[in-house]
Amino acid sequence: MSPVRNPPASDASDQPGWQAAGSRLAASVVLGIETSCDDTAAAVVARGGAVRSSVVSSQVDLHAAYGGVVPELAGRAHLDLLVPVMHSALAEAGLGLAGLSGPPVDAVAATIGPGLIGSLLVGVGAAKALCLAWEVPFVAVNHLEGHLFAALLDHDDLTWPLVVLLVSGGHTILISMEGPGRYRLLGQTLDDAAGEAFDKVARFLGLGYPGGPAVEGAAASGDPEAYSLPRAMIDEGLDFSFSGLKTAVVNLVRKHPDASSEDVAASFQQAVVDVAVAKATRGARQVRAGGLCIGGGVAANGPLRMALQAAGEEMGIPVYLPSRAMCTDNAAMVAAAGLWQLEHLGASGLDTGPDPGLTLGVMP
Ligand code: KG4
Ligand code: ZN
Repeated sequence: MSPVRNPPASDASDQPGWQAAGSRLAASVVLGIETSCDDTAAAVVARGGAVRSSVVSSQVDLHAAYGGVVPELAGRAHLDLLVPVMHSALAEAGLGLAGLSGPPVDAVAATIGPGLIGSLLVGVGAAKALCLAWEVPFVAVNHLEGHLFAALLDHDDLTWPLVVLLVSGGHTILISMEGPGRYRLLGQTLDDAAGEAFDKVARFLGLGYPGGPAVEGAAASGDPEAYSLPRAMIDEGLDFSFSGLKTAVVNLVRKHPDASSEDVAASFQQAVVDVAVAKATRGARQVRAGGLCIGGGVAANGPLRMALQAAGEEMGIPVYLPSRAMCTDNAAMVAAAGLWQLEHLGASGLDTGPDPGLTLGVMP
């Protein structure tokens, strides 16, 4: 993982003051926009982390027929959905599109990556247009950093470092967070992301899309000990591997075609939970963490949340669980990251473009 932060902002001197890249501002209200994949989201977050509105329009029905996200359709759907979603977010926060008294927010933050290029372009383009119209700063937010900030939204009493397990559809990384913007990489998946494994297993078992909630739903009436599935690298290090587990599920079902999907789903889910908790607690011990935290879509998984909570209690450290809505993609996390970024790192240039392969900037 390369130490890349958001792309370098352009020279502040050739831009008008209100959009100067790098200029810092303690904004009081920020509009966040998230369109990195298949959720169209907008939110208004105030200084201190108060979420004044968070609107998410899921494209699940659109993509369900294909069993996964179709990038071309996702981008087009964002185009249709984003303006009404932004309008709702502003209205729910008690703000209009633009008032006589000036812009409704102090800045607009949008996800610039990682994600699907056609999807990112819609949100970033809309955000920049609003910044031009309202004469407010633009803040380019890393989606992964957004997920990390989701955990901070509800808490202001954190003891650093926090060990954060970020488990989403595209990423599985274990981080020691020494404060906002200060991340050390402890481990990451060597192959599939945890969410990807949930999605692939759900598709294979015919449980539907999106895979994570479908597997969790089926597993609720299954026996997690019905089948013994591999827990790759559970006793060593802080990296993850889920592709062998996925293959083991395929082989199991081929060998036992009559196996109950519920039992297979529960056994698979338990294997993921066991590995995730083992790695998170090992990481926490290694850095003497002041707390444990999870983020990303898979962090909405009930058994994972319960297991991590129990592990934290056993270790005697607090476990911070963002609400389920804050685990899956949303724009409140983008606005929260944007608020912090604007104040500590400054505005982004309006020439900052989407970066589908953006990684989390980590300290050496
Ligand atoms: O963070 P997210 O909403 O989007 C990405 O940034 O990828 O994560 C989506 C992933 C999908 O793989 C989805 O199946 C998984 O999170 N997911 C879950 C649950 N809800 C969503 N996995 C397990 N259990 C869940 N309840
Ligand atoms: Zn995400």
